[in-house]
Amino acid sequence: MADQSVKKCPFLHPGNGTTNSHWWKNNLNIKILNQNNERTDPMPSDFNYATEFGKLDLASLKNDLTTLMTDSQDFWPADYGHYGPFFIRMAWHSAGTYRAHDGRGGAGAGQQRFAPLNSWPDNGNLDKARRLLWPIKQKYGRKISWSDLMVLTGNVALESMGFKTLGFADVWEPEEDVNWGQERTWLDGTKRYSGKRDLDNPLAAVQMGLIYVNPEGPEGNPDPLAAAVDIRETFKRMSMDDTETVALIAGGHTFGKGHGAGDPSSVGSEPEAASIEEQGLGWKNKFGTGKGADTITSGLEGAWTKNPTQWDNGYFDVLFSYEWELTKSPAGAKLWTPTNGEGAGEVPDAHDPNKTHAPIMYTTDMSLRLDPKYAVISKRFHENPEEFREAFAKAWYKLMHRDMGPYARCLGPEVPPPQIWQDPVPPNKTATIDTSDEIELKKKILESGLSPSRLAATAWASASTYRNSDKRGGANGARICLDPQRNWEVNEPAELQKVLAVLKGVQHEFNTKHATKKVSMADLIVLGGCTGVEAAARLTGYDVSVPFTPGRTDASQEMTDVESQKFLKPMADGFRNYIQTGLDVRPEELLVDKAHLLALTAPEMTVLVGGLRVLGIGTNDSSAFTENVGHLSNDFFVNLLDMGTVWSPSKDTKYMYKGCDRATGSSKWTATSGDLIFGSHSVLRALSEVYASDDYREDFVRDFCSVYAKVMNLDRFDVSTNSRL
Ligand code: HEM
Repeated sequence: MADQSVKKCPFLHPGNGTTNSHWWKNNLNIKILNQNNERTDPMPSDFNYATEFGKLDLASLKNDLTTLMTDSQDFWPADYGHYGPFFIRMAWHSAGTYRAHDGRGGAGAGQQRFAPLNSWPDNGNLDKARRLLWPIKQKYGRKISWSDLMVLTGNVALESMGFKTLGFADVWEPEEDVNWGQERTWLDGTKRYSGKRDLDNPLAAVQMGLIYVNPEGPEGNPDPLAAAVDIRETFKRMSMDDTETVALIAGGHTFGKGHGAGDPSSVGSEPEAASIEEQGLGWKNKFGTGKGADTITSGLEGAWTKNPTQWDNGYFDVLFSYEWELTKSPAGAKLWTPTNGEGAGEVPDAHDPNKTHAPIMYTTDMSLRLDPKYAVISKRFHENPEEFREAFAKAWYKLMHRDMGPYARCLGPEVPPPQIWQDPVPPNKTATIDTSDEIELKKKILESGLSPSRLAATAWASASTYRNSDKRGGANGARICLDPQRNWEVNEPAELQKVLAVLKGVQHEFNTKHATKKVSMADLIVLGGCTGVEAAARLTGYDVSVPFTPGRTDASQEMTDVESQKFLKPMADGFRNYIQTGLDVRPEELLVDKAHLLALTAPEMTVLVGGLRVLGIGTNDSSAFTENVGHLSNDFFVNLLDMGTVWSPSKDTKYMYKGCDRATGSSKWTATSGDLIFGSHSVLRALSEVYASDDYREDFVRDFCSVYAKVMNLDRFDVSTNSRL
């Protein structure tokens, strides 16, 4: 008899009930801030990847990978007896999700292992590529992260097929912060477009489930010119220009083949939906043997070149040698083959030495010949193979490492020199300032007449450009003194210039006085912030010291890629109550987004907002929630939670509110929804209650100082104690 009681028992389905977001759709989701907590990581608390990586025998690992390239396994036989092309596709799809707009996506966190990426149609059969790597990952364990292993495997794949790479320099659950789009169906039409063909920000792929663009052309329309429009836009969103784009596509498709041996309906569910006995694999294929010559992945069957496991100029030779006509693969996908049966017999079969084929091109490959701008570059590369080789090497390195952040994060013996897209900073060549210098400088800063709030605001503006998604930004380099940052509206350029001028004076005086020691502007700006916060704390009776770590250096304008810096410009900064004009998004959502990029937890976000408000940073006095602006007190929380205030929405401005005295009706405060959320959201209110409590005043000041210092140091990958390496 079936055991009905088991089915009914609610305790056997923990977490399966309806969630709060089901009942209250507009509820602010702060769950993503839990990712900045390290509790889901099974590694020991003192785990340091840089140290572990230092113990790695890289040469031995590369040997093992090279052996694997040609060690065909029965569960997934290698095409042409070489896994190289398959692994290049794996590495490229791992890195290719990167978006310059918010720095999210990319190879850095090994996210291809987790949903949704592990199940994206475009990642078809890459589950097998990762499974092929498992014995090697098992052998080297914690010394190499999955994310690095995937990138390194791509490099070794290229090297084992005759390409000299430029060099090679982890999380435990899916990242929930990445907005991959709103669609609920894979490859769903044109939903992420508006206007002529404007792709929603920050997305960098044309449809849900694709890494970039549809190989068959926009929505399957085989128009190479229209496809070029999509390619240009999506590659641009990964900071790739036309030259880099052509090099990457042509270089990638110099290797391997597409797979579309038969009817795509023979392919089963993706990994995340596959049954438990599949053990994390998906796309089980019932066509023929389901593997090798019978593989179905994209449905686009065939290879581009005559030597698909060899680096050469064959891709351009083939592209320019023939006229092309549209045809269909055995799986029904649209692709191009040479007209009049030309090219027949030129391409080897991947599994049967007695068979041959004609080369193929996708609609997106045809774009490289037919789009006028791409065509010029393709022709040049065709005629200058060495230029093509160099361009591919550079673009591949950038593609693989774009989300790794500064040069200081690159480890190992194969790291090439710093590249402009890594926002380089000069090495520190002089002695670093010590504690007595700090005391001297702090005194000078205070005597300069700059207010504590201004000092703290300037340091915040400098450091808070950091984004943990791609480790860019931050105070090091003092790019706040340069274009474009010094002119950003959020930085209040006129005020900023005054502060920088005064600090430059302090710097000049110090550096003239000391022969061997120099203080950088980058350090001085942060030290100024610490000085400001300490002074503000003294005003409320607390003698605290904000931790300061010197050693930053100043970048020059020439070292700064203005175009790519623009991606760091905040559209909103809830910590400064700033939101770009015309942006119609709830400020509290943007605050959580910013907090996530700053690697903050919910309590850290809360204490920072409370402190920055009373310091009067980015607010007018009224929304500072205190009578004593510039004093580091817990007034923000006390006054926000005060039942003597009644709140009502502003009649004129969306997301603005007015707080009036409950008894008299007189106006007390103004606030944004980014302020009021700390009283309305149950979790944030609970945190605010802690900080509003009488016995928590001092803890508030100490917590604020420590989180403020954390933000100042987020980009200090040059400091060995930084555990986020
Ligand atoms: C294979 C599309 C750019 C490297 C493929 C396949 C498709 C595709 C549909 C066949 C997958 C299969 O059925 O197995 C595209 C599109 C691109 C693009 C639309 C951009 C417009 C790149 C780039 C690289 C690359 C930038 C690397 C730098 C490869 C490699 C293969 C491949 C090596 C062969 C994989 C194998 O042999 O198993 N590509 N690709 N592709 N792609 Fe791309």
